[in-house]
Amino acid sequence: MTDRLIIRRPDDWHVHLRDGAMLDHVAPYTARQFARAIIMPNLSPPVTTASEGAAYRDRIRAAVPAEYDFTPLIVAYLTDHSDADEMARGHAEGVFTAAKLYPAHATTGSAHGVTDVANIMGVLERMAEIGMPLLIHGEVTDHDVDIFDREAVFIDRTLAPLVRRLPTLKIVFEHITTAEAVEFVKAAPATVGATITPQHLHINRNAMLVGGIRPHAYCLPVAKREQHRLAVRAAAVSGSPKFFLGTDSAPHAVHTKEAACGCAGIFNAPHALESYVAVFDEEGALDKFEGFASEHGPAFYGLPLNAGTITLERGETVVPDRVGEVVPFHAGETLGWRLA
Ligand code: NCD
Ligand code: ZN
Repeated sequence: MTDRLIIRRPDDWHVHLRDGAMLDHVAPYTARQFARAIIMPNLSPPVTTASEGAAYRDRIRAAVPAEYDFTPLIVAYLTDHSDADEMARGHAEGVFTAAKLYPAHATTGSAHGVTDVANIMGVLERMAEIGMPLLIHGEVTDHDVDIFDREAVFIDRTLAPLVRRLPTLKIVFEHITTAEAVEFVKAAPATVGATITPQHLHINRNAMLVGGIRPHAYCLPVAKREQHRLAVRAAAVSGSPKFFLGTDSAPHAVHTKEAACGCAGIFNAPHALESYVAVFDEEGALDKFEGFASEHGPAFYGLPLNAGTITLERGETVVPDRVGEVVPFHAGETLGWRLA
């Protein structure tokens, strides 16, 4: 039995660090574990220009304690009015690593998102030319589509046609939750990858609804049936370079989650690595963890691998009930691994 796992320093390819006091509160948890992170731009107002991106990057750097060697990778938020030249300039200046497509009203902070991909086709064509990855929140927003079907329907209506139209555009299908998404990514060209969160490896929709309604298990895309969790787990531990770590850690103050209309988002940053590695251990796939956490993401983005290592070891991690004003994922549970 492996009791210690030494892996190359990992990265988080999808995280919400927020701004202001919340940024100061949560950024150290991500910086403690990860060398780099792709920072989501759904602030209010969103990060749409290169100068806003550079200013946000400065605020993140200021929020990270000096002892951590951490690089925030900034993402542009696409709107119906995004400009190809501004995206290309931000990318060339090294401010924007990628751009994010939120379908308008799909999730938290997506009110300024894209109403129809046709509106940004010129921007996406330019991104394909310059090798700038497109990150996608893959859910339709049509009122007649059941919330549990919104990811699968997005593949048929939007993602598959987009991949056919722009086969050279690098696309990350973010936080996949369904067997349909796993199958789509596996069959797609090498330009298509996907991030996987710890919550979608650990919980199915029962976690939200059995024995009472549990708002801290609610995020978007919403957790699906068990068959989907098993498909996503199999993808994560498969060793395929198309699947990589992206926590989607999304903190909301407790009173905004425990409410009549609670916010979507799970705050998993404090013990993300311990949460993921427990899954790889359960699946008998500890040898696949380094690829998922530290190698597949940089390879997809065309970035160098990190220097240095981290050590995970078998042992208790007691997850607190609260981290400041936020309830973390696995609150009150004990995980079987710890970060040395
Ligand atoms: C995210 C947030 O709170 O910003 N929420 C979530 O449930 N994942 C937005 C998102 O990534 O969908
Ligand atoms: Zn997210």
